[in-house]
Amino acid sequence: MKAVRFHEFGGPEVLRYEDVEQPVAGAGEVLVRVTATTFNPVEGNIRLGVMQGPIPVELPHTPGLDVAGTVDALGEGVEGFAVGDEVVGFLPMTKPGAAAEYVLAPAEALTPAPKGIPLADAAALPLVGLTAYQALFDHGRLEAGQRVLVNGAGGPVGGYAVQLAKQAGAHVIATASPRSAEAVRTAGADEVVDHTSTSVLSAVAEQVDLVLNLAPDPEVLAGLVTLVRPGGAVVNTTIWMPAPTDEDRDVRGVNLYVRSDAEQLAKLVALVDSGDLRVDVAQRVPLTDLSEVHVQAASGGVRGKVVILVSA
Ligand SMILES: NC(=O)c1ccc[n+]([C@@H]2O[C@H](COP(=O)([O-])OP(=O)(O)OC[C@H]3O[C@@H](n4cnc5c(N)ncnc54)[C@H](OP(=O)(O)O)[C@@H]3O)[C@@H](O)[C@H]2O)c1
Repeated sequence: MKAVRFHEFGGPEVLRYEDVEQPVAGAGEVLVRVTATTFNPVEGNIRLGVMQGPIPVELPHTPGLDVAGTVDALGEGVEGFAVGDEVVGFLPMTKPGAAAEYVLAPAEALTPAPKGIPLADAAALPLVGLTAYQALFDHGRLEAGQRVLVNGAGGPVGGYAVQLAKQAGAHVIATASPRSAEAVRTAGADEVVDHTSTSVLSAVAEQVDLVLNLAPDPEVLAGLVTLVRPGGAVVNTTIWMPAPTDEDRDVRGVNLYVRSDAEQLAKLVALVDSGDLRVDVAQRVPLTDLSEVHVQAASGGVRGKVVILVSA
């Protein structure tokens, strides 16, 4: 089969489109014929080799953490799926990924794909959708009527976080630059703060119950704790900077590591199918051009979710 792999850590030039032996499903595994995967910012760092501590991969490594595709074969003991089923999933981060014609997935990482959107676009849901869901509800314990600030809402995680928070009945304040402001408003933000012209730290007048930080500014992150009411939380996804805490005021700081969860993913799929969660795709790029996406990302040029088409 064809796959993109890297044999050594380094810049985007280490990515090679090449022939690789097709894997065979072992016990508990599903062989998925890949329709699409995505690019996630962490994949640039995995390729550079700087994530070998938290996410150790073996070389050569195939990127692609999200998968949307069709069940091709079932390993021993797998129940609940049949050959031909359309599925989505967030794959184990240390294993060979879905930038390949076929990928092995643990059965427990997969869930039936949404029916109302193209299968390839559904690859844009798992990792970032689960990040937003886990940040708001598992770690942030968000409830109806609460106030949430999503700092850095202009990207893919923010798009889902704003939609999910609004749907949960929260008042949503979001930061976004002018290029993302309209999208963030459409996602449901009640208030949008332009982080390029205004400091979020002075723009939020009334304290919030929860801050979700998705932005890469250490000074702002440190200050965000002051915007949270006693007993609230700051949940941070940019984990190279620690989430601030304030023990005196009982404000929790949480560094989030997204985890695969097929049950939660099924909830997100149901919301997509009911029309209550929109899946936004900024670019659709063939697998042969994956290295171009890494080049763009390295220069800060990737905006929104990029779907990598394998066999659409
Ligand atoms: N820890 C985990 O498990 C986990 C999981 C998923 C994602 N992440 C991380 O979470 C972050 C968000 O993910 P993503 O996919 O949505 O990333 P992304 O595409 O980089 O989006 C983040 C958005 O933040 C905005 N931004 C940039 N600088 C900002 C600033 N100084 N203040 C406020 N907003 C700013 C940008 O939008 P505008 O400039 O248009 O406003 C950008 O689109 C990334 O760093 C990602 O690596 C971590």
